[in-house]
Amino acid sequence: MFNIILFGPPGSGKGTQSEKLIQAYGLKHLSTGDLLRSEIARQTPLGLEAKSIMDRGQLVPDEVVVGMISSALDNHPQARGFLFDGFPRTVAQSEALDKLLRLKNTEIGVVLALEVGEEELVNRLLNRGLTSGRSDDTNESVIRARITEYRNKTSVVAEHYDKSGKVVKVPGEGTVDEIFRSLCSEIDRRLS
Ligand code: AP5
Ligand code: MG
Repeated sequence: MFNIILFGPPGSGKGTQSEKLIQAYGLKHLSTGDLLRSEIARQTPLGLEAKSIMDRGQLVPDEVVVGMISSALDNHPQARGFLFDGFPRTVAQSEALDKLLRLKNTEIGVVLALEVGEEELVNRLLNRGLTSGRSDDTNESVIRARITEYRNKTSVVAEHYDKSGKVVKVPGEGTVDEIFRSLCSEIDRRLS
């Protein structure tokens, strides 16, 4: 089993690259943002609670997302590996993930960290907001709040995995295909 964390700030291209990587490597895509938006669409109690937090650009509580990831791991016992997108986002989430993977006799193989400048992030998200229907993309102050949450709570997650030498920084500006090729070469180096 080979498990990847695709890491990076809001708008850095995690979702875009995940779609291509899961095809190329036969991984199961686990995006906590997508899981939360599906709860919102189904108007579950969890979705209703999460929506107001997401609309402010803040992180939902650790226990909520860890619970979703734990069930998703249990629901896919045959997976060849998992691609985590937008998770873990706090040190507590990364510790919980390590524990869940250990119970399944596996671990994180690599953390691929996409690097994109802040103005490019804001432009990409405002642009997507014109068509995506994502309420957290329409307002620049909410987009900036998401980036601030990333700086304050999420960027330290890279340090957690850097201790075991698992983090690789990948430039996230350029064409989608160029970035995809860089990500693949980092994965291939570790698989061979
Ligand atoms: P989440 O859904 O994870 O959103 P995010 O991290 O804010 O990031 P995005 O999904 O907006 O960006 P992305 O990096 O996937 O980029 P994308 O490929 O879409 O989280 C949403 C909210 O849910 C959070 O704010 C939080 O409230 C909650 N949440 C989720 N997970 C949580 C967790 N673990 N803990 C607590 N709370 C959690 O690309 C963005 C745009 O750029 C697209 O339009 C795309 O077409 C474009 N683009 C992509 N690549 C390029 C390129 N190379 N050049 C130009 N444009 C590009
Ligand atoms: Mg995304």
